[in-house]
Amino acid sequence: MTNHRIALIPGDGIGAEVLPPAQQVLDVLGRRHGFTLDYTSYDDWSCERYLREGAMMPENGIDQLRDKDAILLGAVGYPGVPDHVSLWGLLIPIRRSFRQYVNLRPIHVFEGIDSPVRGAVAGEVDFVVVRENVEGEYSEVGGRLNRGFDDEMAVQEAVFTRTGVTRVLDYAFDLAAQRKGRLTSATKSNGIVHTMPFWDQLVAERAEHFPQVAWDQEHIDALAAKFVLEPSRFDVVVGSNLFGDILSDLAAAVAGSIGIAPAANLNPEREFPSMFEPVHGSAPDIAGQGIANPLGAVWSAAMMLDHLGHPEAAKDITGAIAAVLAKTDVRTHDLGGTSTTAEFTDKLLELL
Ligand code: NAD
Ligand code: IPM
Ligand code: MN
Repeated sequence: MTNHRIALIPGDGIGAEVLPPAQQVLDVLGRRHGFTLDYTSYDDWSCERYLREGAMMPENGIDQLRDKDAILLGAVGYPGVPDHVSLWGLLIPIRRSFRQYVNLRPIHVFEGIDSPVRGAVAGEVDFVVVRENVEGEYSEVGGRLNRGFDDEMAVQEAVFTRTGVTRVLDYAFDLAAQRKGRLTSATKSNGIVHTMPFWDQLVAERAEHFPQVAWDQEHIDALAAKFVLEPSRFDVVVGSNLFGDILSDLAAAVAGSIGIAPAANLNPEREFPSMFEPVHGSAPDIAGQGIANPLGAVWSAAMMLDHLGHPEAAKDITGAIAAVLAKTDVRTHDLGGTSTTAEFTDKLLELL
């Protein structure tokens, strides 16, 4: 029987509430499709650990994950530890150390979902945001000077490399070729005069290699508006680290709730483990109440199974998600319901 070694990192807040439902679903599918998942849990890699020991994870944390087949993560960050400290102490080092340069974030409007957007018709809105995940605006280049003085300043450089942009564009074009054959590139080359014209140039260069893909580019501001006004026109949307981050929360809201949206942080070469996590964060405003929507984590687990070579098992999960939304009125509060995480999970397992 195939066995997969999975690292579980619940992290902070609702991260620890949405991972157990994902694990329950995974175990059902393992039994059904004949594979086993051998979990190693890293329960204390969190802000609590930081406050106690001064680090989000042990010094050799990355090495502890290296031999795993995949990582399933809840969420990182909690009030009491500055976000840039917690995230750069755990989530971002994993993405970078394991060269997870593609962040794949699918958006689908399910039947039975009440989207806040009029044009977001179930079945018609189905696209993927491909977010560059290791460089761009998220950079360590820059600094803070003259703290406390009138001339205090902060400088943050954005870093775009030919290699880094090309590989994520190739992934996105290739994905578009396998889907509906359309790609939209998010840019801002009308206002950002060095990096964005470079990005546009590389998009045009790579497009030559994918003649079967019809592509265009949109300024990020106009694109944000089109996500709301005409969400059904998109197939693959590729963007830099920051643009992709913002677009994926926007798209998740269009699809009904950020609580459903999944993400795959991929190392396409499979040289290192990839990481799967919901798009949402630790939601301190609802943490501890048992009311978080588990579907983002569950769908992320489906993406993990797909990556591990079990596409049929992954389809069972997305099928059960579709069924619980279309056929029942069991819903967590973010979807307008009153169900708890446990009730939502039980109904999902029943339909699986
Ligand atoms: P957030 O995603 O945690 O919360 C935004 C809003 O969405 C909140 O009102 C929250 O209650 C709601 N929400 C999110 N997930 C939900 C779910 N599953 N079910 C129901 N409602 C849900 O974003 P934020 O408030 O900007 O960030 C909170 C913390 O999480 C910060 O420390 C932030 O840095 C961190 N964060 C981590 C990740 C990650 O680990 N990948 C992602 C985003 C934010
Ligand atoms: C995400 C999150 C992270 C990001 C933060 C918490 C650093 O918002 O995964 O979307 O911006 O990458
Ligand atoms: Mn985000």
